[in-house]
Amino acid sequence: MPETMNKTFNDCGVIERYREFLPVTDATPVISLGEGSTPLIHSPKLSAITGGEVYVKYEGLNPTGSFKDRGMTMAISKAAEEGAHTVLCASTGNTSAAAAAYAARAGMKCAVLLPAGRIAGGKMVQAYIYGATVVAIRGNFDDALRLVRELGETGDFAIVNSINPYRIEGQKTAAFEIIEELGNAPDIHILPVGNAGNITAYWKGYKEFKELGRSHKLPKMLGVQAAGSAPLYHGAPMDNPETVATAIRIGRPASWDGAINAVSESGGCFEIVEDSEILAAQKWLASNEGIFVEPASAAPVAALFKCFNRSGKTTQCDSCPFRKVQPGAKVVLTVTGHGLKDPDTAKHAVTAPIETEATAAAVREALAKIG
Ligand code: F0G
Repeated sequence: MPETMNKTFNDCGVIERYREFLPVTDATPVISLGEGSTPLIHSPKLSAITGGEVYVKYEGLNPTGSFKDRGMTMAISKAAEEGAHTVLCASTGNTSAAAAAYAARAGMKCAVLLPAGRIAGGKMVQAYIYGATVVAIRGNFDDALRLVRELGETGDFAIVNSINPYRIEGQKTAAFEIIEELGNAPDIHILPVGNAGNITAYWKGYKEFKELGRSHKLPKMLGVQAAGSAPLYHGAPMDNPETVATAIRIGRPASWDGAINAVSESGGCFEIVEDSEILAAQKWLASNEGIFVEPASAAPVAALFKCFNRSGKTTQCDSCPFRKVQPGAKVVLTVTGHGLKDPDTAKHAVTAPIETEATAAAVREALAKIG
């Protein structure tokens, strides 16, 4: 085999990279698009704000642009092993994109139930281009998931929402990667929370590697919700969640217990951020660190800013995990989805371009004005 064809972590996907920690056998057909092994990017500017070391786990670089691919490679591989013909999911847009892509690769049919009119443009296009059947329901994500549960009972569909435990298994691999890269778990892990599968999965991954002696500590988990869509923060389901971060517009998280458990066992907390703070954090991360994420993914950055104001003076609440760790603590933020998923919402950053004649002199004159 030529040198260049050697397998690396980057071309084999999370099942091959972490096979021994996942419920797969030789009989499981691995349906992969090379997901996982995403960059853990050190952020000097966020580190300066906290006085510690802050890293950004850039999950938008997965094959369909979000962390969902880690769970979907497992869910679709197991569905293929079980001989499923059609997979079904409810989604705010990223699960449906991942389900559609992996189902296409597996030669399965895929149907997605989406809240009508509330899916970001890029995600909607993904469902269609990968060949899924799209059903837009007159309701929100919670209604769609209720219908998926009901339809799942017929046995006609393999359900690939995170109520499918294989999804959680695949997603826990992000915690494994962080531990391997840092040589230990971080002190604090911050991530957005919607249906709560991901916080459940990270906590499972962190605990498993600690039990295996691959790390020596567990992080405190800080789950971030949008202020208008914050059932876990308030401790009660919500009927009409509303936020610009449509990915996490969820009032009845399916993995409620998993999220509560992760936060309480780890000594972390839930935090809320306003839509305006989310959009400001999205712009800040792109223009200061070169990392463009969708609105939901900017929520952890907004939460960090809430815990530390820009001058470094702490503004932490009583339960804030930053109160319980040493200065210099290592912090990881998961940014869950790529910014190009939702270009319309990012238009808040767009201004009219400077239009000039097509001459160097005219361009130079225009640039002189901006200094
Ligand atoms: N960030 C993004 C970009 C998401 O798409 C989601 C969930 C989350 C965070 C929250 O993760 O649900 O595991 O707590 N999106 C789901 C979907 C609901 O249908 O794509 P969670």
